[in-house]
Amino acid sequence: MNIMIIAGSNHKAATSTRLAEYVRDVIAAEGHQVTLFDLYRKPLPFYSPDGEYGSTEAIKELQQGMHAADAVILATPEYHSGISGVLKNALDHLGQDHFRGKAVLSMSSAGGSVGVSSLTQLQTIVRNLHGINSPEWISIGGAQRNWFSEPHTDNEGAGGEILERIKRVTRSFLDLAVRVRG
Ligand SMILES: Cc1cc2nc3c(=O)[nH]c(=O)nc-3n(C[C@H](O)[C@H](O)[C@H](O)COP(=O)(O)O)c2cc1C
Repeated sequence: MNIMIIAGSNHKAATSTRLAEYVRDVIAAEGHQVTLFDLYRKPLPFYSPDGEYGSTEAIKELQQGMHAADAVILATPEYHSGISGVLKNALDHLGQDHFRGKAVLSMSSAGGSVGVSSLTQLQTIVRNLHGINSPEWISIGGAQRNWFSEPHTDNEGAGGEILERIKRVTRSFLDLAVRVRG
C-alpha cells in the first residue's frame, strides 16, 4: 500500500507533526510505502477559486502524491475547537478525486485532554470528499504530547500507553486500507 500523510501544522516543533513522523515509521516498519507531506516545510499558497495564486510545485507534489496514494492520514493541531488553517487550505486544493474510496485516518494534538472537535471536523470533511473514515482516530492531548515534543529515534520507554494505542490504531487503519483497496 502507498500511504500519504499530511502534517497540518505551520509550527516548526509541532507535536502533531512529530506524531505524524512516528506513525510514518510504524507504517514503514509494516512494509508499506509512505510519504509525509509537511505543510510547514512545504507551504501552499491560499486556495483561490479564481486561480489567482497559480499552481506551485508544492501544490503539484501534493496533488500527485494524493492521486498515487491508496490511503491517507490527516494530522492537525486543535485550534479554537477546529482544524488548523493550513490544513483546511491544503484540503481546499484537493477534491473527491484524491479521496474517493480511500481509507482515511484522522489524528490531532490538543492542549486539552482530547482534540475531539478537530477530529470530528476532519471526519465531516473526509465524508464530504467521499473518503472512508477509519472507525478509530488518534488524539494526543495535554501531557500525552510530552513524548512528541522532541524527535525520537529509539527509546519509547517514556511514551507508555499512548504509543501502544497509536501503533494499534495505525495497524487497524492499515488493515482497513488493504481491505478497501484489495
Ligand atoms: C491559535 C490556537 C488555538 C488553540 N485552541 C485550542 C483549543 O481550542 N483547544 C485545545 O485543547 N487546545 C488549543 N490550543 C492548543 C493546541 O491545541 C496545542 O498547543 C497543540 O499541541 C498544538 O499542536 P502542535 O504541537 O502540533 O502545534 C490552541 C493553540 C493555538 C496556538
